[in-house]
Amino acid sequence: MSVIRAVVKGYGHYLPERVVENAEFAETLDTSDEWIRSRTGIERRHFAAEGQKTSDLAIEAAKMALAKAGMQGNDLDAIVLATATPDQTFPSTATRVQHAIGLTHGFAFDIQAVCAGFIFALSNANAMITSGQAKTVMVIGAETFSRILDWEDRTTCVLFGDGAGAVILQAEPGEGTGSDRGILATDLNSDGRFNDLLYVDGGVSSTGTAGVVKMQGQEVFKHAVAKLAACGETALDKAGLHADDIDWIVPHQANLRIIKRTAQKVGVSMDRVVVTVQDHGNTSAASIPMALSVAAERGQIKQGDLLLLEAIGGGLTWGAAVLRW
Ligand code: UT7
Repeated sequence: MSVIRAVVKGYGHYLPERVVENAEFAETLDTSDEWIRSRTGIERRHFAAEGQKTSDLAIEAAKMALAKAGMQGNDLDAIVLATATPDQTFPSTATRVQHAIGLTHGFAFDIQAVCAGFIFALSNANAMITSGQAKTVMVIGAETFSRILDWEDRTTCVLFGDGAGAVILQAEPGEGTGSDRGILATDLNSDGRFNDLLYVDGGVSSTGTAGVVKMQGQEVFKHAVAKLAACGETALDKAGLHADDIDWIVPHQANLRIIKRTAQKVGVSMDRVVVTVQDHGNTSAASIPMALSVAAERGQIKQGDLLLLEAIGGGLTWGAAVLRW
């Protein structure tokens, strides 16, 4: 059976210049490099410069993805951008990227599913491509979480970083089997009963301020391991594939202990897991597309490899995608 698949044609990422090592936090907070490293796997993260906006990071990632695909901005039909830290309340950060890369037709919009945002955006783009609504779609995850951190709260501010990643998906015919390149299945979930486990204590219609991140870390940790493994297995099941078929898990990079436990539950060894958390920290919606781009640049991910992407974030929202690169 011939089907339409959304196939990756280009990838890119951008990290702001400023690198902040764990030791820097120990200068002002009761914390240590040892604690952060052993509890999270994080060694350093990048922070955007003063005045550098989420769209600025996204535009750089978008330009790299276009160059890798050998495309111009106007070759795209749409941009779907996942972020919880937009430049402004409106217009969307996606339309800023649209303008900057010279896309003068089509459409661009933002998606908000916090750390699971890239999976939600990817699934949305896949639906538009497979339904014939768009042929070529750029999917971006971009964040400046440094703008919503409480620098006096050691339980959250040491965890996050800034960055952006992008992939370009294009419609291609497939056989309708698990051997096809492209997105083979996605699985999206949310449960608003868990709003209070991870949230920002501000917003347009509540406080009129941007607010700062609040998290019940241990509770989120427990949900993360169980829910990530379950949605990963569901997505594999939908694609008619198994853990043995996976070449790489590309997980949301929040905590190395979560990454390890999830891989173990799914039944994939750590030498088949892409890990960037040590250098990026938790960059929310940007973490998976940046990990994809870094792994492709490292030569870890090769064309034809089967990838399982999985992420969880505030909401709670969580999801997975099975993608043959
Ligand atoms: O991306 C969205 C999804 N988010 C996540 O997946 C995050 C999930 N949660 C986690 O990654 C972990 O729960 C954390 C890294 C946030 C925390 O690790 P933990 O092993 O769950 O630590 P904990 O919260 O149980 O805290 C243990 C101790 C506490 O001290 P007491 O009460 O035992 O005296 C904390 O106050 O560690 C203390 N602590 C710190 N100590 C030094 C918390 N943060 C720090 C810190 N430095 N930065």
